[in-house]
Amino acid sequence: MPEGSTGQEVHVNRAAVLGAGIMGGGIAFASAASGVPVVLKDIAQAPLDQGMAEVAKLLRKRLDAGQIDPARAEQIGRSIVPSTTYESFDEVDLVVEAIVENVAVKKAVLREVEERIGEQAILVSNTSSLSIAEIGTALQRPHQFAGMHFFNPVPVMPLVEVVRGPHTSAQTAEAVAAYARRMGKVPVIVRDCPGFLVNRILTAYFVGFLLLLRDGADFEIVDKVMEQFGWPMGPAALQDVIGLDTSSHVVRLITSGYPQRMRLDFVHAIEHLARVGRHGQKSGGGFYAYSAGPRGRPQKASDPLVRHQIACLGAPAREFDGETIVERMMLPMIVEAATCLEDGVVGSAENLDTSLLLGVGFPRQRGGVLRYADQLGLGRIVERCGPYTALGGAYRPTAAMLEMASAGR
Ligand code: CAA
Ligand code: NAD
Repeated sequence: MPEGSTGQEVHVNRAAVLGAGIMGGGIAFASAASGVPVVLKDIAQAPLDQGMAEVAKLLRKRLDAGQIDPARAEQIGRSIVPSTTYESFDEVDLVVEAIVENVAVKKAVLREVEERIGEQAILVSNTSSLSIAEIGTALQRPHQFAGMHFFNPVPVMPLVEVVRGPHTSAQTAEAVAAYARRMGKVPVIVRDCPGFLVNRILTAYFVGFLLLLRDGADFEIVDKVMEQFGWPMGPAALQDVIGLDTSSHVVRLITSGYPQRMRLDFVHAIEHLARVGRHGQKSGGGFYAYSAGPRGRPQKASDPLVRHQIACLGAPAREFDGETIVERMMLPMIVEAATCLEDGVVGSAENLDTSLLLGVGFPRQRGGVLRYADQLGLGRIVERCGPYTALGGAYRPTAAMLEMASAGR
């Protein structure tokens, strides 16, 4: 029997979510809509009110679309209980932590929560980049702890990464995967490493983006080119969705986990905008300015002030052609995807491609990052990395890629 296992199956019938920010509100809604009532806890009333307003918006949309009737909408709404205390945490089967991306804070809060929940209850962290092993060191029952990594916006993105730490029991991982499936999500089991699977590969793409900006590219042009390539939104707009405060922590943590490929030894635009308080959609402005759109979703507009704010960070403005932009963005992603497969972060190339399609909307028509790499051909990828080697390890094919390319595979 695995370490700490009681051999009993755990069914999640009641849950709690810590943090009512961008992620917490969506997770609470997904849980309640799947029939699992939830306590939504934050440290302050204002984010709770905002989280509950988001829940009301999601319910209204389903009502208007005829997906649920008023009675069901009321039932779902009532099954999310906002709270600023740990009252009734002793009744839940699982707690999803979705608070600030800071390892010391997460450890302190989860240690506190562990003392308030039942002995069989499971704790999961929605961390984007922190080590599940490290967070687990704060706990008395690390076998009942795992990563449960949702993607933003939670109601739209179907993927959930289930991250097994060194002590996570098989039954904990299975209960977390079953809870994700119940919410209509697709769970994929991934290894505990900086960025897990999807954020690790996505960060390589953001490294390509930040190097382009450093070298004088215009972020709005990069966004347009990547949208034409097939992405649902460009990298700058995506940063605004994620939140630049969260993203600057995530980029720092993940890049420092892979210094041989992802070194960023300059003050970059994400870090700088986060520092000056431009946190993205949630603060009304990031790379773009936002106002309320007709369907209640933020609508983006250019903000000339931003160009001015980040102009001092890199080389003078310079034009790049579309092909160069695509290569500088996509080659690091291909190299990191190949490295993840070689490192066994995920079980198969198919699962890797599916994860990128479902987690970050990888261009569907290209089938997935590894399928896209196959379509280009390894020989061509190796050749196209050549001119960019001066940009660093992000553009250096792995030994296995070089070997396969020279064997014509
Ligand atoms: N919350 C809930 N629903 C939302 C939403 C939000 N914040 N934003 C958009 N939607 C819904 C809309 O209501 C709409 O639903 P219907 O089709 O039912 O009307 C649907 O999504 C499409 O929205 P729009 O037509 O307004 O805009 P779009 O077609 O551009 O889609 C998008 C918006 C779904 C966000 C899409 O652009 C997309 O997939 N972007 C990529 C998002 C992504 O990569 N997320 C992962 C970020 S990384 C991460 O999360 C991990 C981490 O740890 C940082
Ligand atoms: P956010 O800043 O929007 O919200 C965090 C919330 O946590 C705030 O409302 C804050 O008041 C609350 N909080 C802080 N300390 C707390 C505590 N001790 N107890 C209860 N609530 C507390 O952040 P977010 O974007 O929702 O991110 C939350 C977590 O999810 C982070 O670990 C982040 O890395 C991860 N994540 C974020 C995204 C994304 O795209 N934003 C995607 C996947 C995972």
